[in-house]
Amino acid sequence: MTRAPAGRSLSTDELRRLDKQFVWHPFTHMKQWLADEPLVITGADGMYLIDSDGNRYLDGVSSLWCNVHGHRVSEIDAAIRAQLGKVAHTTMLGLASEPAILLAERLIKIAPRGLAKVFYSDAGATATEIAFKLAAQYWFNLGKPEKCEFVGFADAYHGDTVGAMSIGRTEAFHRPYFPLLFKAHFTPTDLAKVESILRERAPRIAAVCIEPIVQGAAGMLIQPEGFLRGVRELCTKHDVLMIADEVATGFGRTGKMFACEHEEVSPDLMCVAKGISGGYLPLAATLATQKIFDAFLGETWEGKTFFHGHTYTGNPLACAAALASLDLFERNDLLRAVQRKSIGLAKMLDELRTLPQVGQIRQKGFMVGVELVGFDPKRRTGAEVCAKIRRRGVILRPLSDVIVLMPPLAMELDDLRRIVDALAAEIREL
Ligand SMILES: Cc1ncc(COP(=O)(O)O)c(C=O)c1O
Repeated sequence: MTRAPAGRSLSTDELRRLDKQFVWHPFTHMKQWLADEPLVITGADGMYLIDSDGNRYLDGVSSLWCNVHGHRVSEIDAAIRAQLGKVAHTTMLGLASEPAILLAERLIKIAPRGLAKVFYSDAGATATEIAFKLAAQYWFNLGKPEKCEFVGFADAYHGDTVGAMSIGRTEAFHRPYFPLLFKAHFTPTDLAKVESILRERAPRIAAVCIEPIVQGAAGMLIQPEGFLRGVRELCTKHDVLMIADEVATGFGRTGKMFACEHEEVSPDLMCVAKGISGGYLPLAATLATQKIFDAFLGETWEGKTFFHGHTYTGNPLACAAALASLDLFERNDLLRAVQRKSIGLAKMLDELRTLPQVGQIRQKGFMVGVELVGFDPKRRTGAEVCAKIRRRGVILRPLSDVIVLMPPLAMELDDLRRIVDALAAEIREL
């Protein structure tokens, strides 16, 4: 029995019944969901999620790649409570807000050099959508409206809004919307191919958009060394903007604060979300260079303003959580800890390599994909493993037959060991 927020006491069965009656879940095969007995999460404690029957599960995917320090972190809870005592939400359209100001200053301090301005929103998809619109309008404002096409990477993922789907087109997810999407140019992870598109079309291209170092939703594909830097150089050479989508890789995921730092790359626009608020509240931002910002500074009648905004843009509670999260990065020396623990995690993952059902294991910091091989895709082996592993007290979510491990950055080696051991046991039983 759980005490629901509205004060009703509901059993697990009642919660499940109400969920099935009223809720439509994202990225969820609802026919299967209605036939299953879904977990209802009613609490959390550090690295653990707790269901309505009191069972505890290690959060092996950071609640969809966003949790950083664990759940119910006293410092972040306190920061949100303190902000609640001031104001929960005010608009940023025409008003400034204290936590948003302080966070913007902090973000620019830690971002790759050259990024100077922070445009807030509330999801990864809005952060990328904003980057695409900023890039197109940048050229428009400079008198080059023909530079409005984009280059994206095969199997990239930038979110589920129409612009994000246009440039991060994933056949399996987006096919029904293909007629709605605008034209983009797609390239494999191959600098010669990127260059050939740019050589031919640069006068019409606004920007190249890339998930730096790791293409997450494609199955944790890691780019060869030097690739990101090569893309930066090509963008500069051909006078097109470079957009780095750090929604998944940002805030320490790969062992650096931002993945671009691995190759000392400064993008023109950078999208962040997920880990920005420590995984607490919806918050995102698109960071831009001064040069881009300046192109929007015309007189009112010139129409150079960026006419874009969301109601909850820069929400004060979310910004307060983000500031507290950044404090914890420093206080706990979290980036160094991730680098150290990643080596331990790599050793544990090596043990999985001996299993005949395991193909490639791709890891960058706390971003891991374990590929299952030799199974009929129709069997949905990845989903099967992630469903069964719950009885061992672990929550995972696959990308097809790639098992994703994305633990909160604060997870210690003993909990990581529990997850890897549970995964090994589950794979052996296939
Ligand atoms: C690289 C990347 N960009 C954008 C998104 C979309 O973020 P959101 O789900 O917050 O809209 C994701 C989500 O996984 C992502 O991995």
